[in-house]
Amino acid sequence: MNLESILFSQGFGSRRQCRALVADARVAVDGAVCTDPLAPFEPVGLTFSVDGEAWPYHERAYLALNKPAGYECSRDPQHHLSVFHLLPAQFAARGVQCVGRLDQDTTGLLLLSDDGQFVHAFTSPKRKVPKLYVATTRHPLDDAQLTALRTGVLLHGEREPVAAVDARARSEHELELSVLEGKYHQVKRMIAAAGNRCEGLHRERIGGLTLPADLAPGAWRWLGAAELEALRQG
Ligand code: URA
Repeated sequence: MNLESILFSQGFGSRRQCRALVADARVAVDGAVCTDPLAPFEPVGLTFSVDGEAWPYHERAYLALNKPAGYECSRDPQHHLSVFHLLPAQFAARGVQCVGRLDQDTTGLLLLSDDGQFVHAFTSPKRKVPKLYVATTRHPLDDAQLTALRTGVLLHGEREPVAAVDARARSEHELELSVLEGKYHQVKRMIAAAGNRCEGLHRERIGGLTLPADLAPGAWRWLGAAELEALRQG
């Protein structure tokens, strides 16, 4: 694959912009500046740099972000900044999307990808991927609420009750809850339907992938094959 195409595929701008980046001696491969946009390279495993900043080639982007509060999972946010403000611009340019949405005030594990099939598979209601949340509740948790969450609560506007795969109290005001669906404000609505109120929500795990402990709020990282495999477990 030639260098211009490699840059283009990774979101470094239009073909013309990518060609200019190379011609202007701003791109290096293996530490050597390359000014020929048509120079061929094997892209798999390649790390190039643009203006001295290293960029590993990935045919598809699979990312984990530790979403902080106050960011919307939309490219076109209404009231807050977009989570895309936390990522290099190359990702939006190559069509990376959020895999499902977290509310602006929800924190924790958010996946993003430009692999349409992956995004679809993980957001489809048919694909029952458990998502583990930790909620802070306004009122003390009690057994009746936990039983209601586990056996099913009827959400406003829904016909069928929705149940948590698991719901347990971590402390008097801290609820651990695992759900398979991804309905609008689902966890907050479930907690309200069980007679309590959600005052803070954090997503800790999707499938078998736990939010990495070393990923600070607002930080992101590429997901490797082992993490993608963990996601499919659960
Ligand atoms: N359920 C909610 O209510 N909000 C989220 O952000 C995620 C799940």
